[in-house]
Amino acid sequence: MKGVVLAGGLGTRLYPLTKITNKHLLPVYDSPMITYPVECLVKAGITDILVVTGGNNPGDFLRLLGNGRQYGVEHINYAYQEGEGGIAEALALAEAHAACGPVCVVLGDNLVEKTIKSAVDEYKKQGKGAKILLKEVDDPQRFGVPVLAGDKVVRIEEKPRNPASQFAVTGIYMYDFQVFDFIKTLSPSERGELEITDVNNLYINQGSMTWSVLDGWWTDAGTFDSLLKASNLVAAGGANKD
Ligand code: DAU
Repeated sequence: MKGVVLAGGLGTRLYPLTKITNKHLLPVYDSPMITYPVECLVKAGITDILVVTGGNNPGDFLRLLGNGRQYGVEHINYAYQEGEGGIAEALALAEAHAACGPVCVVLGDNLVEKTIKSAVDEYKKQGKGAKILLKEVDDPQRFGVPVLAGDKVVRIEEKPRNPASQFAVTGIYMYDFQVFDFIKTLSPSERGELEITDVNNLYINQGSMTWSVLDGWWTDAGTFDSLLKASNLVAAGGANKD
């Protein structure tokens, strides 16, 4: 299974910090943000990774990550997303890297306390379709939110005003190769992006989406508050623990 870290977009919520560098190169406690999702994949046993960058300073990702060996990556590829056309648009750039196989996608601003290895192993057994990881949060309206009926996800709503549950869909997704066909059918949302939530809803409609709840803390780091929270959580005990 191959890995994909999505670090495109312009990071406008962190302006003016992102006027001078890429959001994913900002520090989260003692390491640049991008190193956490990379380590998340490596700890799950996924060491063939594509990093999709965008915006300014793409060369700095190469300067930081190099050939990836320092971070346990066996093979690293880089791609560049023009503009900010959405998470699904960035993921489309991973089609050749996936080489007809499944991918584990981690958003470049997502951090977890504990390894996701057990979820990745479950998905490998599942063999096809998709898998998402959920986490209970205080502010679900900031995220994709699952509508649950018993233990089934009926659909996912992106940033709903009135969230149907207290869960956020985290930025860790596992997909089979049909994800790239699904992305080709998408149209831009009201915010002008190809939405990963639309991709997930296609899998749900197909009846091939599974989910589990993440163990340990999870946070994004794409706002000033969540960036500070992420730094404090890492400082207090580290991330990507076994
Ligand atoms: O963090 C989890 C949430 O991430 C999910 O719950 C939402 O369903 C999902 O839409 C996403 O929400 P955000 O609005 O927080 O995503 P954001 O625009 O901040 O982008 C998150 C990361 O995705 C970003 O750090 C890099 C990558 N990205 C984003 C865009 C818009 C790209 O690679 N290219 C893009 O064009």
